[in-house]
Amino acid sequence: MKRCKIKSIAILLLAALTGPNASMAQKAVNYEESKVTAFELPALLVSKNGTPIKTAQQWEKIRRPELLEIFAAQEYGRTPNEKIAVRYEVLTENRNALSGKATSRQIRFIFSNNGKQTEAILLLYLPNNARGKVPVFVGYNFKGNHSISYDTSIIYSSNFMRVKEPGNPDWARGCQMSRWPLDFIIGKGYALATMCYHDIYPDVPGYKKFGIPSLFSGYDSLSAKPDEWQAIGAWAWGSSRIADYLETVKEIDSKKIAIMGHSRQGKAALWAGAQDKRFGVVISNCSGAGGAALSKRDYGETVEQVTKIKPAWFCAAFNQYRNNEQALNFDQHGLIALMAPRAVYVASAQEDRWADPKGEYLSAFYASPVYGLYGRRGLTSMEQPAIEQPVMNDVGYHIRKGIHDVTLFDWEAFIRFANKHFSLTNGS
Ligand code: GCU
Repeated sequence: MKRCKIKSIAILLLAALTGPNASMAQKAVNYEESKVTAFELPALLVSKNGTPIKTAQQWEKIRRPELLEIFAAQEYGRTPNEKIAVRYEVLTENRNALSGKATSRQIRFIFSNNGKQTEAILLLYLPNNARGKVPVFVGYNFKGNHSISYDTSIIYSSNFMRVKEPGNPDWARGCQMSRWPLDFIIGKGYALATMCYHDIYPDVPGYKKFGIPSLFSGYDSLSAKPDEWQAIGAWAWGSSRIADYLETVKEIDSKKIAIMGHSRQGKAALWAGAQDKRFGVVISNCSGAGGAALSKRDYGETVEQVTKIKPAWFCAAFNQYRNNEQALNFDQHGLIALMAPRAVYVASAQEDRWADPKGEYLSAFYASPVYGLYGRRGLTSMEQPAIEQPVMNDVGYHIRKGIHDVTLFDWEAFIRFANKHFSLTNGS
């Protein structure tokens, strides 16, 4: 625990160095609403050749594929079509998890292709008192499956050991349990499927060779084409592989899969939801730049900062927009619109100015007309709702008090939102 605290302090320091302050060396970060320069968003409901998009059918046939192509070619990179073999091994099952309220399983995914192999471990909790199949939340954790609980039977994945603490990976046990309120989630009748994001793409420079992209034909660790997928693309791909597995689990209702991602994983959850319609509810928590927040709104983190913090989240083509957001012929409202007509929820935190809460809201607001094409209800006001007053239409939003984090307040809202869209009443 002590170790965990030291780590957190180190991370805060690092954030101070790589975050807002570090960017002083680049362009100063704007945190003043009055200094936000006027910007114009590219129209969503007009196709590339100028055709107005007036129906859901036109959206599906013309504009949606155009936007998917733009995000693949210019921001997240293309997801390869090549099929990767995957084998599942159920490593453990505990029918008495969470004091008997849940069954937990740990499942090893073994991906192989071209004579290479990588592994990931899924940690799955299923409520024991379910009367039928259960809905499920999918989400990556940052510090290993064992970081979400003190349960000592939770094992580390091999990539976590590689990248995080070769000598003593146990420092993270239970470290992020506040972000994963298991009793609450299970108590509401949901299953939870979580995996460490490093298993799919280690988020540490120099470790790409242990990630999923290394299995694909043509992989070259040293050079990347401008539209080649990087970390966010790979994490999104991995979420779809989790969905594949969940479709095989008899206790799960595979028509009710929600995906939730925080911060960089909020960016990846949106990209996963855009590409994979099995995610019926898509939730971005504090995803900020390159996630829910509008890039053209000059507030908080910029394209330059988000593409420099970690070299390998976005495809190389996105770098052309560093300090050049006005040249973008797309913006993040288009990403959110790709979820339509499925339910999408954007959550912000009041003190998370780096992620630009207002820019996150406006993005969801400007995506909303696309929901209108389906007769669905998006966000109807340009004004952000008051603090901790969630709006839950087909596009939902809240801003809560506090910092960049995932809290019980957030989960309460996510579950209420998912209940609404999965037509469930359990526990809410
Ligand atoms: C940094 C980065 C953000 C990102 C966050 C995270 O703050 O600038 O864009 O969302 O890290 O993922 O933790």
